[in-house]
Amino acid sequence: MCGIIGIASNKSVSVNIINALKKLEYRGYDSAGLATITNGEINEKKCPGRVEKLEKILFQNPSEGNLGIGHVRWATHGVPNEVNAHPHSSEIVSVVHNGIIENSDELKRVLEKSGKVFKSQTDTEVITVLLTEKLKNLDPLNAVFETLDMLRGSFALGIIFKNFKDFVIGARRGSPLAVGYSSNENYLGSDSYALKAMTNKISYLDDGDLCVISKNEVKFFNSKKDKINKEIFTLSEDKSQASKGNYKNFMIKEIFEQPITAKTCLKEYIDKIRGEINFYNLPVDPKKINKIALIGCGTAYHSCLIAKYWLEEFTSLSVETDIASEFRYRKVRFDKNTLYLFVSQSGETADTYAALELCKKENVKTCSVVNVVESSIARNSDCVLPIHAGPEIGVASTKAFIGQMLVLYLLSLKISEIRNDIDRKEYKNKINELKKIPSLLSESLKQEEKIQIIAKDIYKSNGSMFLGRGFSFPIALEGALKLKELSYLHAEGYPAGEMKHGPLALIEDGLPVVVIAPKDKYFEKTLSNMQEVIARGGKVLLLTNSGGKVISENIRFQIDLPESDITLTPFLFTIPLQLLSYHVALFKKCDIDKPRNLAKSVTVE
Ligand code: M6R
Repeated sequence: MCGIIGIASNKSVSVNIINALKKLEYRGYDSAGLATITNGEINEKKCPGRVEKLEKILFQNPSEGNLGIGHVRWATHGVPNEVNAHPHSSEIVSVVHNGIIENSDELKRVLEKSGKVFKSQTDTEVITVLLTEKLKNLDPLNAVFETLDMLRGSFALGIIFKNFKDFVIGARRGSPLAVGYSSNENYLGSDSYALKAMTNKISYLDDGDLCVISKNEVKFFNSKKDKINKEIFTLSEDKSQASKGNYKNFMIKEIFEQPITAKTCLKEYIDKIRGEINFYNLPVDPKKINKIALIGCGTAYHSCLIAKYWLEEFTSLSVETDIASEFRYRKVRFDKNTLYLFVSQSGETADTYAALELCKKENVKTCSVVNVVESSIARNSDCVLPIHAGPEIGVASTKAFIGQMLVLYLLSLKISEIRNDIDRKEYKNKINELKKIPSLLSESLKQEEKIQIIAKDIYKSNGSMFLGRGFSFPIALEGALKLKELSYLHAEGYPAGEMKHGPLALIEDGLPVVVIAPKDKYFEKTLSNMQEVIARGGKVLLLTNSGGKVISENIRFQIDLPESDITLTPFLFTIPLQLLSYHVALFKKCDIDKPRNLAKSVTVE
């Protein structure tokens, strides 16, 4: 879960490396570094902290050179400090690495026995040490191949050599790697997003591939050392490229973008003239399946949980949901009559990707709901359903969650229509209701001022709880995840009906408890659970859509959301929870777009 960049050019590369690293910061931001070949020597500069800090170091002491590699780190082995930051260089070779070398301890022990000394606590340094040894007898390409043979794990590498000043070598084993082309300059990057400012011509390495990038040429090899060709893709221009505009940070911009995100997504999937939902490329006939399995991590998993409720409501299918890191190691009984659906904003999440690979090996049909259509998950699934949310930069997923839910809602409805599980009139009615989502989201966003007041009231608390039933249970989980992720305030999400089976013991005087209670079939039951919380001193924030009625005088705060079709409440009730976590985090002076210890794209296990 780090970011890699490599550039071979006919001009100085350090400024472009820094700019690309800024784009890659979503993958990790606890340290940064670069190495160039300057006057025939490896010139390494690195520091703990953000790319901005590295930029300042370079400003005072520039790194010249037409060949270089760069890295942003999310620490896995060893604390984030200067020594552990990448690149890891010897006198003759310098390495940047994303992923994990699983047998690094083993290799390190053997190398130490033979007298090798390690400076850092990282797994990466074994690669530098191994390569330095191998380069005594081998050319760079064969030295890399031989080193790769000794490594276990999932990783991507960028490597430069003191004595071979013309090329960067890149290698992919499990972690994504892209190559970009320009005139007199070629690139290596963890993803196309980092390269987009420099080129729109991109190729992708497959697992086991290696590439040699010089300023006028790129060569590719497969794991058997055979030279191979790669398709070159032209990336679409993205006009909405990440800029904060007048907003304080990306997260609040992305929260307020949600009505537009929803509008764009609906436009892509609902035919304007016939008012029909279009999914042209499903890999299976929905009439011939009997189960859907939904798989994802974090927020994406929560959208899977909500989709389970929709699919069960609209179709006669069985539905399973799984957290990808569990699915990949469970003894899953794969079934040809099941559609395996993967949800991921980035499309690069290591666990989700591994779960997809597992399905591919088992020859079952897969479909992915992603934001990044050039991603590994998108490229490797049988069918891709993009959410059309545009780049999401804030580490906390907001507009992508709305986009994932929208696509999953549309898919649930479409499947039920194809299978004749829903009658035509109801189907059309649901589509009409769905079209109101953009304006309903705008209405919900008007609650921001009230939520600021609530955030001020609760930000000093030691913990919090989020409760809901039915569709609102996964929303409670998502609300709790957002709050802990952004404000580091402990937060638990629970099905309201579970409270008396244990969690009720946590309720004490003043504990903030967010109760999500739309006027659905669970309403009365959720309110009873709420009263149990109030009776024990809990400070309740009630989210409801009961038309502005005062429900109980003992509720500390009540937020009234617009009324909607009952199956659409997850969209509207998400908004105040996003705003709450945002404002609590602001009061706590947290780093909103880059919460501590996290990264936008989790490309390690
Ligand atoms: O890119 P993905 O959707 O696969 O990411 C999955 C999770 O890492 C992600 O949703 C994470 O939970 C978010 N930071 C939550 O806001």
